[in-house]
Amino acid sequence: MVKVSVAGVRGFTGEELLRILSRHPFVEIKHLFSREKGLRVGDIYPWFKSEILTENISAKAIGDTDVVFLCLPHTESAPVAAKFLSAGKRVVDLSADFRLKSAADYKNVYGVRHPCPSYLAKAVYGLTEFRRDELKDAQLVANPGCYPTAVLIAVLPAVIKGLATATDIIADAKSGVSGAGRKLSNELLFSNVYENARAYQVARHRHRSEIEQEIFLVSGRRPVLTFVPHLIPQKRGIIATVYLKTKARVKDDFAAAVYGKFYRGEKFVSVLPAGRQPATAEVIGTNDVRLGVAVDARSNILIVTSVIDNLIKGASGQAVQNMNIMFGFDEAAGLA
Ligand SMILES: NC(=O)c1ccc[n+]([C@@H]2O[C@H](COP(=O)([O-])OP(=O)(O)OC[C@H]3O[C@@H](n4cnc5c(N)ncnc54)[C@H](OP(=O)(O)O)[C@@H]3O)[C@@H](O)[C@H]2O)c1
Repeated sequence: MVKVSVAGVRGFTGEELLRILSRHPFVEIKHLFSREKGLRVGDIYPWFKSEILTENISAKAIGDTDVVFLCLPHTESAPVAAKFLSAGKRVVDLSADFRLKSAADYKNVYGVRHPCPSYLAKAVYGLTEFRRDELKDAQLVANPGCYPTAVLIAVLPAVIKGLATATDIIADAKSGVSGAGRKLSNELLFSNVYENARAYQVARHRHRSEIEQEIFLVSGRRPVLTFVPHLIPQKRGIIATVYLKTKARVKDDFAAAVYGKFYRGEKFVSVLPAGRQPATAEVIGTNDVRLGVAVDARSNILIVTSVIDNLIKGASGQAVQNMNIMFGFDEAAGLA
């Protein structure tokens, strides 16, 4: 059994991770870290039938852990990762701290100096379907953001297969409220979310850099992305619709076939037949990504719609999928 610990267990992704890990056949949950120690986690989550108490991170707990999942805010996560990494432990970080390859980009995007830049080169970006070989030996996994997961899985096949240009990509994405974490803010109050929808951080959201970086690293083509996120009145789920300029005239069936072939054999990615579109309700509670592929024949725009559960494929599910690869388990262990 692999000894796993979780930091930030009281947050949304921490809760989802605990749910997945508690039914995982090959892991033993060792330590659940919080800034507030001594809380019975079974009291926080009544479905978690265990006497485990929350703890602060200690040298003993680090020694006792094979892999730690960090469900912490960015900038808080990197120093904690460094403690585990310097003790030779493996880390799956759900925050944004190790996703960007350059400390200068991190400063530009997050507005602060990177807390531990020396570890950036070590991090493997954990978009599982595209990084399996590197994940096997990774000591540090930078788990992708929720929007980047939905958008990249929709964009990459078209760019890699030369179906569309990498420039002029538009991603219009909508997320349920849990994407923002448990924090309190005026915009996230029930009265401001219920029966309401709004765009935010239009064309300047932090995830744009992460998405552009990965399109470039995976395809070798420099992208230009316009990214517009929206908050929608549901608890969880992301729907991302991406628009790409095709290089030649193509038909719906052909484009859907290219995507279908690209993801053939993938357990968690399915491509719907041309003419069908996915909905968030179809993936909530699962690690699945569902894609709908269509072409607007008048404008030659390829339109790919992607749905995920932001807390599972967009966070904790993909984190466990990555851990499964790191430890040589069936990729779907605990997830199917
Ligand atoms: N929500 C999503 O859909 C999603 C998807 C992908 C990635 N992520 C990323 O995953 C990480 C966790 O996200 P989340 O949604 O689970 O966040 P969250 O609900 O706000 O939980 C974060 C947890 O971090 C702990 N924490 C430690 N230091 C903190 C500090 N200074 N301020 C606030 N909390 C602190 C808190 O636990 P204690 O109070 O117990 O210490 C808190 O429960 C974030 O970096 C987020 O960007 C989130």
